[in-house]
Amino acid sequence: MPMSTRIASVLLLLLLSSMFAGVLPHKSKDIIDGPLITSKIKTNRTILVGPSEEFKTVQAAVDAVPMGNSDWIIVHCRSGIYREKVVIPKEKQYIFLRGNGKGRTAIVWDDSSTNNTLSATFTVWADNFVAFGISFKNDALIAVADAPHNQSVATMVAGDKVAFYHCAFYSPHNTLFDYKGRHYYESSYIQGNIDFIFGRGQSIFQSCEIFVLHDKRIKILGSITAQNRPSSDDSSGFVFLKGKVYGVGDAYLGRAKGPHSRVIFAKSYLSRTVTAAGWTNWSYDGSTDNLLYGEYDCRGPGSNTTLRVPWSKQLNEEEASPFITIDFIDGKEWLPVYY
Ligand SMILES: *[C@@H]1O[C@H](CO)[C@@H](O)[C@H](O)[C@H]1NC(C)=O
Ligand SMILES: *[C@@H]1O[C@H](CO)[C@@H](O)[C@H](O)[C@H]1NC(C)=O
Ligand SMILES: *[C@@H]1O[C@H](CO)[C@@H](O)[C@H](O)[C@H]1NC(C)=O
Ligand SMILES: *[C@@H]1O[C@H](CO)[C@@H](O)[C@H](O)[C@H]1NC(C)=O
Ligand SMILES: *[C@@H]1O[C@H](CO)[C@@H](O)[C@H](O)[C@H]1NC(C)=O
Repeated sequence: MPMSTRIASVLLLLLLSSMFAGVLPHKSKDIIDGPLITSKIKTNRTILVGPSEEFKTVQAAVDAVPMGNSDWIIVHCRSGIYREKVVIPKEKQYIFLRGNGKGRTAIVWDDSSTNNTLSATFTVWADNFVAFGISFKNDALIAVADAPHNQSVATMVAGDKVAFYHCAFYSPHNTLFDYKGRHYYESSYIQGNIDFIFGRGQSIFQSCEIFVLHDKRIKILGSITAQNRPSSDDSSGFVFLKGKVYGVGDAYLGRAKGPHSRVIFAKSYLSRTVTAAGWTNWSYDGSTDNLLYGEYDCRGPGSNTTLRVPWSKQLNEEEASPFITIDFIDGKEWLPVYY
């Protein structure tokens, strides 16, 4: 090939790759951190929260965001424990709630209730919400012997297009109410015992750590997920991708809830904490025929499928493929950045 042709083809390649970079602007090869998300969100409107800032509580800062907000605004929470309940109302979209890291910034409350919504420490009703580097905790004293069978949600996610990066969710019971909408959880830590990730969300949990705790009130095994997909045309489902499940108690990966529920663990490490049957239809009297409770390419002692319930599924690559890409939640259209 003459030199000029070679240079021309290199230039063409460069041109093509820069065009593709425009088509796929958000996929990250780097660690997704606060500065990277901030640069993608492209705003310099910042409200500061901290003991010596204008806003002392997270809710006061959220209250200061205008109703009908339509441009990204950063609510930056300095290190510290904020003991308060926080609600992001429907009218306050485009909030980027940024902490100093999940070990340093925490929002904590301790309500417990038979009503999940009422118990939640942190609730997002708004669409277009992003959080980075914050712990959300419900520390109600209920998973102890003789405590009431109340629920204590750490976070309820009821908006569409919501993402949590490097966050943590802690609660003794029903930790993450993934109520509805398209959601992305990345490099986050979720701890609980009974039904601790539940709801009708359409969600990808990318590289998350799931930690199972004992519940001292009852003898049943808890369940990591209780997904609730009511019908075959509902787009919801939980997908756990390249994560890790471990802990101190025994738990099922999921229990049957809605008749068409979908939960998939793919390319994940499952420790001994995952019980051999894998999945349960406990308290569910409907047919298991339309459930999609599946595993794909998992590893670790909890991934042995010999004793799995017969209605659970081991997916092949083709069956798993619609779920294990960001397109499952249309992420290319709305996520600031993803893997
Ligand atoms: C913030 O952004 C606005 C609009 O892009 C710009 O006019 C302003 O100079 C910026 N302010 C700072 C402090 O960067
Ligand atoms: C349990 O929930 C009920 C109903 O919401 C409430 O009245 C009660 O105070 C809760 N108990 C505790 C210990 O939080
Ligand atoms: C729980 O509380 C919320 C908020 O007050 C209310 O809208 C909802 O109807 C309650 N749910 C149940 C099942 O009582
Ligand atoms: C629930 O699961 C058990 C064990 O796999 C099975 O024997 C039973 O038929 C299931 N119930 C329904 C309603 O499918
Ligand atoms: C999987 O579990 C079965 C039943 O407990 C056991 O016989 C088998 O050895 C296990 N396989 C591996 C690879 O550990």
